[in-house]
Amino acid sequence: MTSLKDKTLIVTAGPTIEPIDPVRFLSNHSTGKMGYAIAGVLAARGARVLLVSGRTALETPQGVERVDVLSAEEMYRAVMERFEASDGAVMCAAVADYTPAEVSPVKMKKSDDDLVIRLKRTKDIAAEAGRRKGERMLMGFALETDHEQENALGKLRRKNLDFIVLNSLRDRGAGFAGDTNKITIIDRAGEITEYPLESKTAAADRIADRIEAWFAARG
Ligand code: CTP
Repeated sequence: MTSLKDKTLIVTAGPTIEPIDPVRFLSNHSTGKMGYAIAGVLAARGARVLLVSGRTALETPQGVERVDVLSAEEMYRAVMERFEASDGAVMCAAVADYTPAEVSPVKMKKSDDDLVIRLKRTKDIAAEAGRRKGERMLMGFALETDHEQENALGKLRRKNLDFIVLNSLRDRGAGFAGDTNKITIIDRAGEITEYPLESKTAAADRIADRIEAWFAARG
């Protein structure tokens, strides 16, 4: 399939790693599987795909150009350097919302006291892309435990997204670790489509269908 030929799409995937000192970090349980599956499907449909990836144990999907990053700040820069020349982005990464305010240049020594690490906010990559998006396509993800659709729609509006893909932690088989996912896609018009529990590859196909239709509607 070459329906996305001539399109350059950025996909972010995986966790970010926020250093505390040279040997310690804060991170999350994202495996990157969903983002890698999407990158692979978009490339198979003819798009030039730039996969901006946090640390994962996954192989780069065929035909995908991968840029490795560690922290939220690095991911922000890697995406922003490429965003203007792109036709859109799929923000699938689990980006840390906070990072240590100071990174110790040497390994921190323990003491008998408790330790307090001050965290500062990271930059919101999806929201910044939303501010710069112009005619580009922008898709975000939301992982929610309550008021799922309402919260996801709020995120779509705040970040100026065209679509938000909702993963509910209430659904069995959905979320980070497994090979399956149960997604709901909400578009800018507020239209909600719920998909069945299926493999991450099948879910990636549904997502790519929506992206394709979005570009097709714009000629
Ligand atoms: N995102 C991003 N940059 C960040 C944080 C999030 O690009 N610094 C993107 C994610 O890739 C995802 C979406 O924004 O597409 C998730 O939004 P977010 O507001 O972070 O949702 P949650 O992580 O669910 O956080 P919370 O509910 O605590 O606001």
